[in-house]
Amino acid sequence: MKKVVRKAVFPVAGMGTRFLPATKANPKEMLPVVDKPLIQYAVEEAVAAGIEVMVFITGRSKRAISDHFDKAYELENELTLRGKEETLKIVQNIVPPNVTCVHIRQAEALGLGHAVGRAKAVIGDEPFAVLLADDLIDDDADGCLHQMTKVFEEWQCSILGVERIDPSETQSYGIVRSNSIGNSLGRVEEIVEKPRPDKAPSNLAVVGRYILTPGIFDKLEQVTRGAGGEIQLTDAIAMLLKDEPVLSHEFHGRRYDCGSKLGYLIATVEQGLKHPELRDGFKDYLSNLVLD
Ligand code: UTP
Repeated sequence: MKKVVRKAVFPVAGMGTRFLPATKANPKEMLPVVDKPLIQYAVEEAVAAGIEVMVFITGRSKRAISDHFDKAYELENELTLRGKEETLKIVQNIVPPNVTCVHIRQAEALGLGHAVGRAKAVIGDEPFAVLLADDLIDDDADGCLHQMTKVFEEWQCSILGVERIDPSETQSYGIVRSNSIGNSLGRVEEIVEKPRPDKAPSNLAVVGRYILTPGIFDKLEQVTRGAGGEIQLTDAIAMLLKDEPVLSHEFHGRRYDCGSKLGYLIATVEQGLKHPELRDGFKDYLSNLVLD
């Protein structure tokens, strides 16, 4: 019987050092782009892909994330008393009723691979998605994860969301070498974490979207600390692809690297220009802005 992806893991336990001091007491994933926190964009993308169980790997000072996806009695009561029906709906409909949220603590921030490994007990023997909320991916026609779950339905194996990057930036990404099998798909032959440009096997970078088979958990248990002294998901995927096929999928959509200040600002401007309430006024403001 064909398997379906029902669960998604959101690793949100990183330290967010590039955004200090904003991330001293607040998680990076709660930074808003216009009026929604980054993590909500990722959860909405997962909901659109049919995910029913959202597993958040959280750390210290991340309580705001569990609160965000929980019921807010006082706020809802207050909005009801003030007759703010529309705002009340926004607050109540953050996740649909069929969605379950699970929160797991990563006691120490030992890396993305370590964070994903914490989800093993909840994922069990199923394929699952991993979404990094600081990669905001916007596609009006079809969300990135939905594109990938469709590929999974057909191929029933692990899939990495990839994007062509400027070759000078390979040291910021996991980089794959893959053999094209058509339709934006390739079979991954090699994956390396943050290689120097002269050592990189290509400029095809893994961004924050994965579908993984449960075989990854055994590999994560075998992985030792790699680049940056962290337990790298990339190293576990490198082991996995020796045993099973792993595909790369060049998704459609605009990706914003909201883990960097520049990417975050670009996302804010472009999403502001798309926002129904703001776009006209914001566009006027930007066109009158005199830049040196
Ligand atoms: P990043 O490499 O962006 O690290 O992590 P970071 O700590 O969030 O940010 P900087 O680089 O210090 O500014 C990629 C993803 O993996 C999660 C992060 O929350 C982010 O979504 N992560 C990273 C964990 O959940 N646990 C970790 O131990 C490390």
